[in-house]
Amino acid sequence: MQKKVYIESYGCQMNVSDSEVVASILARDGYTPVKSAEEADLVLLNTCSIREKAEYTVMQRINEMNNLKARNKGLKVGVLGCMAERMREDLLEKKKVVDLVVGPDAYRTLPELLEKVGTGQKAVNVLLSREETYGEIEPVRLDTNGVTAFVTIMRGCDNMCAFCVVPFTRGRERSRDAASIVRECEQLVRDGYKEVTLLGQNVDSYKFRSEDQKIRRSDNENAILGMASDTVDPAGRPASAGPTTTDFADLLEMVALACPTLRIRYSTSHPKDMTDKVLAVMARHDNICKYIHLPVQSGSSEVLKRMNRGYDRAWYMERMANIRRHMPDCAISTDIIAGFCGETEEDHQATLELIREVKYDMAFMFKYSERPKTLAARKYPDDVPDEVKGRRLAEVIETQKAASAERMLGYVGQVHEVLVEGVSKRSADHVYGRNSQNSVVILPRMHEGVELGPGTFVKVRIASATPGSLKGSILEILSSHAQPV
Ligand code: 5AD
Ligand code: SF4
Repeated sequence: MQKKVYIESYGCQMNVSDSEVVASILARDGYTPVKSAEEADLVLLNTCSIREKAEYTVMQRINEMNNLKARNKGLKVGVLGCMAERMREDLLEKKKVVDLVVGPDAYRTLPELLEKVGTGQKAVNVLLSREETYGEIEPVRLDTNGVTAFVTIMRGCDNMCAFCVVPFTRGRERSRDAASIVRECEQLVRDGYKEVTLLGQNVDSYKFRSEDQKIRRSDNENAILGMASDTVDPAGRPASAGPTTTDFADLLEMVALACPTLRIRYSTSHPKDMTDKVLAVMARHDNICKYIHLPVQSGSSEVLKRMNRGYDRAWYMERMANIRRHMPDCAISTDIIAGFCGETEEDHQATLELIREVKYDMAFMFKYSERPKTLAARKYPDDVPDEVKGRRLAEVIETQKAASAERMLGYVGQVHEVLVEGVSKRSADHVYGRNSQNSVVILPRMHEGVELGPGTFVKVRIASATPGSLKGSILEILSSHAQPV
């Protein structure tokens, strides 16, 4: 009999992508994914530790599992991901409902662990790895809109930002085989997907060394690369060149060339590592979206130093200028933390001023939340009172709202290419999609008797803007993306 698994993902896009790897590993073990916990024999919560609040939400959800178990005696419950890594003892000792605890690098062992769980024992594996990339595992796409997908290109993080728990929960940085990434993207195209987001905690430090990887390319692609032979290594150099190292710019270009009909995004960049080579590749390829998520965290060089970010405000602003030099139409979003250890009113004002200066399209903004084991937890007192953090966060949000309103208004009148993702939640007569800059664009569902289904590319004129989205009028339905607009 087919066993049924329900996987619930919390936190970052990386977790969404990991859940798809887990679904693939479990498929080989006879599990089919289902859409609700009520239908499942196995519920897996893929968890996040980034802030205390994230962990609290999951803890509540774990408690709810007691009710489900009371109704379904055979139900097994597992905790995956960052909280599994960070809180294994707590979970095993204090949460009786949890049968299984598995860290982000141990998903291949799920079948054995489930066998143990089947005999009524608890099972745990939270070993971190220096090599695991799940490179060859073909993910089972969950909750998919059939249009956009994530592909993980690297795992872990070696940066040691003072506030961040990720190096402790996800371990050392390692990059996935470039050829397997390209193959996965090509498969997405064959499956009808129109957009991919390449994922990593810090994509700019992607590095893959290959001894003998060879990829076949079409004559057209080789013409673009300026090559006679149709056999090139993953970095696009002739195979005879011997061992090569593929960096992120090379990888991005390889995917752009191998999948010319696919829109390509990536996340997350790190200001200290973002190279001009990446910017040049982005500018060169129409199918790479003109959008960069570049977390600044703070506008104060003093705070950035304590955060151990490896850049100061001037460096960040120089990166910003370079982005705009290469791609004047590029949108930029960011992450900001309000109330980090020792943040003064002056530091806070510097952040507000930076937001006004950069004018981000969008930002994720958070109150600082101390995480055990991190550099900040060990070294600096969490000394900004909660109400001050709250007030500063509100000011950051308000300033950013004004900045994004201004950015969005600037798009009015422009012609953009939009990829339709689905029917608008607010109105059945409208669809929503995204432009290259990653802003949401609302469009009429019908154009000259044709319904705009998910996956349709449309040329639109932006008619109006709110801080959160744009409205467009349709000029033309395109057969694929990257047509000059
Ligand atoms: N407290 C608040 N925000 C945090 N982030 C990471 N760690 C913390 C923390 N301890 C934010 C950062 C990061 C984003 C993913 O989450 O802004 O870029
Ligand atoms: Fe949360 Fe970070 Fe883990 Fe993603 S990597 S789930 S954001 S703690």
